[in-house]
Amino acid sequence: MTNHRIALIPGDGIGAEVLPPAQQVLDAVGRRHGFGFTYTAYDWSCERYLRDGAMMPKDGLDQLRDKDAILLGAVGYPGVPDHVSLWGLLIPIRRSFCQYVNLRPIHVFEGIDSPVRGAVAGEVDFVVVRENVEGEYSEIGGRLNRGFPEEMAVQEAVFTRAGVTRVLDYAFDLSAQRGGKVTSATKSNGIVHTMPFWDELVAERAAAHPTVTWDQEHIDALAAKFVLDPARFDVVVGSNLFGDILSDLAAAVAGSIGIAPAANLNPERKFPSMFEPVHGSAPDIAERGIANPLGAVWSAAMMLDHLGHPEAGKDVTDAIAAVLAKTDVRTPDLGGTASTAEFTEKLLELL
Ligand code: NAI
Ligand code: MG
Repeated sequence: MTNHRIALIPGDGIGAEVLPPAQQVLDAVGRRHGFGFTYTAYDWSCERYLRDGAMMPKDGLDQLRDKDAILLGAVGYPGVPDHVSLWGLLIPIRRSFCQYVNLRPIHVFEGIDSPVRGAVAGEVDFVVVRENVEGEYSEIGGRLNRGFPEEMAVQEAVFTRAGVTRVLDYAFDLSAQRGGKVTSATKSNGIVHTMPFWDELVAERAAAHPTVTWDQEHIDALAAKFVLDPARFDVVVGSNLFGDILSDLAAAVAGSIGIAPAANLNPERKFPSMFEPVHGSAPDIAERGIANPLGAVWSAAMMLDHLGHPEAGKDVTDAIAAVLAKTDVRTPDLGGTASTAEFTEKLLELL
């Protein structure tokens, strides 16, 4: 029997509350399809940072290297600056393991009320492909004259031909599979060096994928269209910053941040990929047992796809759709009164 080695990093707050449901779902669906999981759990978190002075141990990345995939809850703890948790754990994992694609599917499920009137269940179904390791989130730059009136900060955006090309190829290939269209997020009117370069590479990669239709939109207009006409999109590809913002906007359009999943992919499979819900550690509801587990469960379904079990992944997304469409069991963020455990139980029943 195939046995996948999974690293579990629950993290902080509700991160630790949403991973056990994801594990239960994985074990159940694995039993049915004839494969299993061996989990190794790591306590890497902001709480660890407060205790030991680091989010993860020095050899942390080496401990993950031989795993088939990483499942992460969320990190973030009041009192620990967010750049510590991000640059101490998530960004090193993404970069060291060349997880250059951040994939975020957006789907409006039947039974979920979107805050956007035009976001009709079944019609809105698209994917944001975010460049995940370069772009605006660079370490190049600095601060000068701290504390003086002439104080300044400079941060360089880094776009490489290789880095942009590979993420665009991923987006075009994905769109070819889906039979849809690519929309590129740009801002080449205002950002005069990196964004025209991005646009040139988009045109180049489009020529290499002649069966895929494509267009491009400036990021500001695109943000408006996400709200006004979300059903028109199929695969949206953007730089690190643009993709980050667009995917949170899209998750809100889909109805709840608690449902949205994400995959950080190393498409070449040289390193483990990482799967995580889009939401954070939600300190406002932590330890009350009411977190919505669907974002983590859907992320686990993306992990199943990546591990070569698309039929098992579909069983999981079908169960998510069923629990929302056919029952009124819901956690409070979706207007219900169910606990995380009750919601998970219903989901497992429908799986
Ligand atoms: P958040 O996503 O944790 O919470 C935003 C709001 O959505 C809160 O009202 C929360 O209760 C609600 N919410 C989020 N997930 C939910 C779920 N599964 N079920 C029910 N309600 C849910 O974002 P926020 O408050 O901006 O950040 C809190 C902490 O999380 C910060 O320290 C932040 O840095 C961190 N964070 C970590 C991320 C990660 O680990 N990838 C991503 C985003 C934030
Ligand atoms: Mg974000």
